[in-house]
Amino acid sequence: MSAAPLLKVEGLKVSYGHIEAVKGIDFELHEGQITTLVGANGAGKSTTLLALSGLVKKATGRVLLGGQDLTSLSPHKIVASGMVQVAEGRATLTTLTVRENLELGGYTRRDSRGQRADDLDHIYTLFPRLKERSDGLAGNLSGGEQQMLAIGRALMAKPRVLLLDEPSMGLAPIIVQDIFRTLREINKAGLTVFLVEQNVRQALKIADRAYVIETGKIVLEGEGRELLGNPKVQDAYLGG
Ligand SMILES: Nc1ncnc2c1ncn2[C@@H]1O[C@H](COP(=O)(O)OP(=O)(O)O)[C@@H](O)[C@H]1O
Ligand SMILES: [Mg+2]
Repeated sequence: MSAAPLLKVEGLKVSYGHIEAVKGIDFELHEGQITTLVGANGAGKSTTLLALSGLVKKATGRVLLGGQDLTSLSPHKIVASGMVQVAEGRATLTTLTVRENLELGGYTRRDSRGQRADDLDHIYTLFPRLKERSDGLAGNLSGGEQQMLAIGRALMAKPRVLLLDEPSMGLAPIIVQDIFRTLREINKAGLTVFLVEQNVRQALKIADRAYVIETGKIVLEGEGRELLGNPKVQDAYLGG
């Protein structure tokens, strides 16, 4: 890859007390690509994302977004710089409507009302189900629809980089495919995506680049498709 990376992470370490959850990792995201970080439960994936978003303290390491040093910025400044994480566990506000949830996603921006209405239309084009259920309470959505709402809400903040922590968790395979297909679509429209997943097969299928993390260390990296065919990956994560 010749172009400079959009996001560069160097020597990232994170500890919880005496537990070193992330043990000095390096990775890059390239503009317009889907990059995935895959690994087993407890490998350090969520910790890596929390560190990027400024939500856990980094013991060491640097985070650079398009040349800007985000390492010591507060979580809200990180969001303002364009790195936006989809709320984990589909933490939508269940007593608000679908539309209200989406509008909240855009509240950090100072665009005109007209611009925000256009953005809302764009989200409804990506997720027609959300449009149908626009005036319904988010709490009445299915798991898959809530995941779509969480993604839609993050997109309302107009990110440069979208971070997702296991969007497939707890969803039926057909719904996972639907969500991943939509992620691909959003990515094709230009958005850079960092996808953290335990669903190794599906994540590698849609990713341009991939990193495998084991107990806090990156052990493999390559193109998504290439790692899908890697015997080590097949043995450890794809049932041989
Ligand atoms: N808040 C916490 N306090 C202490 N240990 C934690 C905490 N969160 C995660 N860990 C530990 O850090 C390691 C990495 O966890 P995590 O980043 O959640 O992994 P993953 O997202 O890959 O499942 C695990 O050993 C986990 O038990
Ligand atoms: Mg996790």
